[in-house]
Amino acid sequence: MKTPVILLVALLALLAGCRSDSKQTQVEGQKKLTAFDDQVQQAMSGMTLDEKIGQMTQAEITGLKDDKDVGDYYLGSLLSGGNGDPKEGNSLKAWTDMYDKYQSLALKTRLGVPILYGVDAVHGHNNVLDAVIFPHNIGLGATRDSDLVRRVSQVTAEEVRATGINWTFAPCVAVPRDERWGRTYEGFGEDPELVKTLGEASVMGFQGADLRGPLSVLACAKHFAADGGTIWGTGALKAPDKPERWPLDRGDVKLSEAELREIHLQGYVTAINAGVGSIMPSYSSWNGVKCSGSKRLLTEILKGELGFEGFLISDYNAIDELPGDYKNDIETSINAGMDMVMVPNNYREFIRLLRELVDEGKVPMSRIDDAVRRILRVKFAMGLMDKGRSHMADRALHKRFGSPEHRQVARDAVRRSLVLLKNDNKALPLSKTFARIHIGGKNADDLGNQCGGWTIDWQGKSGELTTGGTTILKAIQGAVSASTKVTFSKDGSGADGADVGVVVIGETPYAEMMGDREDLSLSIEDLSAIDNMKKAGIPVVVILISGRPMIIEPALLKCDAFIAAWLPGTEGQGVADVLFGDYKPSGKLPHSWPQSVNQIPINVGDAMYTPLFKYGFGLSY
Ligand code: BGC
Ligand code: BGC
Repeated sequence: MKTPVILLVALLALLAGCRSDSKQTQVEGQKKLTAFDDQVQQAMSGMTLDEKIGQMTQAEITGLKDDKDVGDYYLGSLLSGGNGDPKEGNSLKAWTDMYDKYQSLALKTRLGVPILYGVDAVHGHNNVLDAVIFPHNIGLGATRDSDLVRRVSQVTAEEVRATGINWTFAPCVAVPRDERWGRTYEGFGEDPELVKTLGEASVMGFQGADLRGPLSVLACAKHFAADGGTIWGTGALKAPDKPERWPLDRGDVKLSEAELREIHLQGYVTAINAGVGSIMPSYSSWNGVKCSGSKRLLTEILKGELGFEGFLISDYNAIDELPGDYKNDIETSINAGMDMVMVPNNYREFIRLLRELVDEGKVPMSRIDDAVRRILRVKFAMGLMDKGRSHMADRALHKRFGSPEHRQVARDAVRRSLVLLKNDNKALPLSKTFARIHIGGKNADDLGNQCGGWTIDWQGKSGELTTGGTTILKAIQGAVSASTKVTFSKDGSGADGADVGVVVIGETPYAEMMGDREDLSLSIEDLSAIDNMKKAGIPVVVILISGRPMIIEPALLKCDAFIAAWLPGTEGQGVADVLFGDYKPSGKLPHSWPQSVNQIPINVGDAMYTPLFKYGFGLSY
């Protein structure tokens, strides 16, 4: 039913001339990369095949068989995945030491080409203790503020560089169309227009005016293409021997090329314009073909039509999911246009097999050269090939890591990201001089829940996190007058006599795969916390912490005011700023808010469109 509408939109966009700059071969940002081609050519002329294949290989720290392998296999890149912490723990110092150690190993090789060290700094430098944690992208989408998004990425880049690390697998420019997908919060929102502007701003924030700047990190737009468009029931198998699936993650996208372009490629057009140096192909498939093996997507559309001159990094073990044996997977993916392969553990085998494929003529030398040219282009642009320059971490940056100035940017992002959905009888803003405020709900005093997935751990975790930050409860306690009593009970009971009740409910952390949900209803625990509060006969304010819209009607009817706070991160004061009116709510919904799960997928522009709240809705005081 939705197809004719999308086609119409596509046609209109085409007529308006705002279709992706398809025939343009080299966009502005990419010229900066190709400017290094002479130097790249010269560097490559002295490289052996093994050195070239090494550049195309990214191993994971935790998967290294021997530290010596960095030099022995000429590895071009290393990563720390969501759980790739230093053995010595998660401190700033341990991370910096780890980076320095591996970078020095690379510098000792014959050619001394520095490594690119990649991490998922997707809402701050989120693996490292005491980094400032920003709202996940869905919250930034609600701000509609590209200057803010640029600053958020800038601060993140600075904290990443404090550990020496020079590459983040961000921004995610997914356009999530089905909120049951557990990665919905990683995208800015359901509308390609929004993803276009905020994705571009994020790339500019990470990479700075010049990639070689001391505070710039290489950005990576992901996951190409249409990771947010998968169809329910087509996701990855839960285990290789089980027929059960994660319903959406790593699934199949069934769309025509015109629809794919109009919805899911827009974020890449602007990211490329902004000069993004790397792009990550998606685990998911398009009409049955895995993106990591699609020549149409990677070579013809992305590198050809869209003029991308940087390099492609495959997702974590993603090529293993292509049909055929491992050697086949490598052949298909590299020939499709993959330039660097994220091969956390099996890098020795990968290198041996890719070498064999070249010797057998199954992967042409021209393809290897193209891949290495793209990788080195980026390394030159980043200043990594400058011999006179230090490639060790600049520890002078440690003093600004997690600093009050950085936390201020996050607090500002939090308050701009909140969306006020209901405010009857002017329940909000609250007075700072109330005699007593009673707080309830499982997410009121839980930093882990407030931050969500990709925080300290890959999947995130509930609880204290032992990292710096302020829960919403602590933020409220810090905001009120000296004479105001703030009381708390997780289940909302004991509110009698308070002036107002605030209940903070919602989801608990998850990341890829584990967050796919068929049912987005609120839990019994959450609903009864609201009921318990209500029993006291006082006005009740509900704050929802979640990575996506949930089914909230029962809660909405019971409360006086309702705020969607997404996954705000460590700076809970941003929530208090809105509660007490120090900041007037300005957030707008980045997703259409469904009435029921049966309505999903529901997206702005649909022919049948009767959401509970429309895309863009948001009240103020
Ligand atoms: C995720 C990517 C991430 C990569 C490295 C993958 O499983 O899909 O988003 O960048 O792992 O951690
Ligand atoms: C890693 C993540 C990665 C995931 C992929 C985890 O073990 O820590 O970074 O995204 O595996 O499945």
